[in-house]
Amino acid sequence: TNRFAQFKLVLLGESAVGKSSIVHRFVKNTFDDMRESTIGAAFLTQSINLPESNTTIKFEIWDTAGQERYKSLAPMYYRNANAALCVYDITSRSSFNKAQEWIKELKRQATEGIVIALVGNKLDLEENREVDQQEVEEYIVQQSAEDDGNQIITSECSAKNGDGVLDIFNSIGRALPVD
Ligand code: GTP
Ligand code: MG
Repeated sequence: TNRFAQFKLVLLGESAVGKSSIVHRFVKNTFDDMRESTIGAAFLTQSINLPESNTTIKFEIWDTAGQERYKSLAPMYYRNANAALCVYDITSRSSFNKAQEWIKELKRQATEGIVIALVGNKLDLEENREVDQQEVEEYIVQQSAEDDGNQIITSECSAKNGDGVLDIFNSIGRALPVD
């Protein structure tokens, strides 16, 4: 028999890192070179199948706005979230710092046991890379040492060509508790 589970997922990260583009790649398998900046937040849903556990997982996705003026709205969206994607752009060091700030805030304020994914987007722009995988790993090792019960998944993707996007949601699905 097939099992079914439903989870709330939130995307956080600096403006223009590609949060909405990742969601649209995942939900509609499309990409827009001229996507408009999100106002407030957008809500979308998409389901995945995990064949190994015979489970269908429905994600209720809150795609938040990264512009500074919307920052105060974020807690409304992450408060009851089961999972969070903290997105940065691999060609932008400042966006990586911002993603780390979001992880810090989630650890303090979000539901205990929230599954956190640190996601580097725009992998198709490898030639302009500013954030090395090496330093992401070092950051994760340092975070694990804090031993606060939050496991952090890391991955890189390109919303533009689709590389790695489904993998992120599959990994999150596997990390979430289904009973
Ligand atoms: P806010 O809604 O303002 O928080 O931004 P966002 O994080 O939702 O970014 P959005 O998805 O709107 O993407 C910003 C810009 O980056 C758009 O012009 C996208 O076309 C572009 N973009 C997004 N993902 C990629 C990617 O993987 N590769 C490349 N080359 N460009 C991307
Ligand atoms: Mg957006």
